[in-house]
Amino acid sequence: MTKSQQDTKPAHLQLQDENYELAIYEGSIGPSVIDVARLYSETGQFTYDPGYTSTASCRSTITYIDGEEGILLHRGYPIEQLADKGNFIETCFLLLYGELPNKQELTEFEAAITNHTMVHEQLEKFFHGFRRDAHPMAIMVGVVGALSAFYHDSTDISDAAQRRIASRRLIAKIPTIAAMAYKYSIGQPFVYPRNELDYAANFLHMCFSVPSEERPVNPVLARAMDRIFILHADHEQNASTSTVRLAGSSGANPFACVAAGIACLWGPAHGGANEAALDMLAEIGSVDRIPDYIARAKDKDDPFRLMGFGHRVYKNYDPRARVMQKTCHEVLEELGIKGDPLLDVAMELEKIALNDNYFVEKKLYPNIDFYSGITLKAIGFPSDMFTVLFALARTVGWIAQWNEMIEDPSQRIGRPRQLYVGATQRDYTPLDKR
Ligand code: SDX
Repeated sequence: MTKSQQDTKPAHLQLQDENYELAIYEGSIGPSVIDVARLYSETGQFTYDPGYTSTASCRSTITYIDGEEGILLHRGYPIEQLADKGNFIETCFLLLYGELPNKQELTEFEAAITNHTMVHEQLEKFFHGFRRDAHPMAIMVGVVGALSAFYHDSTDISDAAQRRIASRRLIAKIPTIAAMAYKYSIGQPFVYPRNELDYAANFLHMCFSVPSEERPVNPVLARAMDRIFILHADHEQNASTSTVRLAGSSGANPFACVAAGIACLWGPAHGGANEAALDMLAEIGSVDRIPDYIARAKDKDDPFRLMGFGHRVYKNYDPRARVMQKTCHEVLEELGIKGDPLLDVAMELEKIALNDNYFVEKKLYPNIDFYSGITLKAIGFPSDMFTVLFALARTVGWIAQWNEMIEDPSQRIGRPRQLYVGATQRDYTPLDKR
């Protein structure tokens, strides 16, 4: 019984002539919840919430989103402050352990990550089974899943020490695997990590260096990459995080759970939207074609959606999109890219959409995926690498949420039920009678 249960009056449910009391729990901030865990055992009825629009799947202390106000907090810290004042490695520590690290903690954590960035040499063989034109996300699903075959010293998920090792290994190795996926897709040799580089600079080094010449990493681009990682690190119980939690609830190998999260993130309605948004901007091509696409986005009979727009939770501007837009301008300026036609289309599209009744009434605003593609393209990534970068950054969020689930004493295997509308029982019909 939590403190909040004692203070809050229960909800009352009347079913036929029965009255039921359902406990209500208050969070530290945000909506309270009605506990329906015993609804089926007491009433024989399920709740019904396809898409989980009104369902809290867990208690969490990691990330809080206020969709109406456009607020995103990680362990209470606003995303704008973390992106502006912090760095990705300390954000990883915060997400994993709940507090910002002091100097000694940060030094130890960063050294642990840096010294685990190399992957087992055998892992390289997995890449060579793919065609060179394989989508890098397909490679990520396969290779990250394969990690579950490499670390038998950290598969007992009931052992906190082994969970800690697995968590740090994943955070350390995911950039190396992502860079290898990129190198493989462009037919260049893999580049090893360098321990003297920080996390984001090391990633850019592994992606863009070649054995034939040193290519120093631009510190402005490394800072932009680090900030992009912070913006994508965690986001409450989104589809891919819920996938990792559900996979992990059966006690599955953490590397396999993260591979499941990568698979879910790939979808264009989720993390795949950054690739789809850039492809959309390229298809629109010029500002004068925007009205046609706005009309298509509003047409119920047209499956076209404005990619990078709308969000299940944000009914206001995604705070990450604002930081992303600022980063976009910084990167384009640093690279001397003036008048990027895709940026012109994006800025004009945003302006038109935010003044169009359809988008205003449905509270559709740019989300994190709207500007990220332009930025990542300017840094030098092809669009099929955008969701890989999202997965790279989100790995810490998945792992932090996975750890929280495993450590939750009320944790059980996730097993939703259904409203069955299929055939009622009938007897088998022999073939000659069909
Ligand atoms: C991410 O959950 C997270 O936190 C995800 C994420 C994270 O960090 O993990 O934030 C990352 O996935 C961001 C979202 C990226 N996806 C896109 O940008 C794809 C385009 N967006 C849409 O597909 C949509 O907005 C979703 C999937 C993001 C949200 O879908 P919902 O909540 O199920 O909303 P919906 O599809 O029911 O839309 C509500 C209405 C519908 O119209 P009606 O049926 O009410 O008439 O708004 C319309 C939709 O047709 N609508 C859009 C639209 N998004 C919603 N119309 C045109 N263009 C759009 N982009």
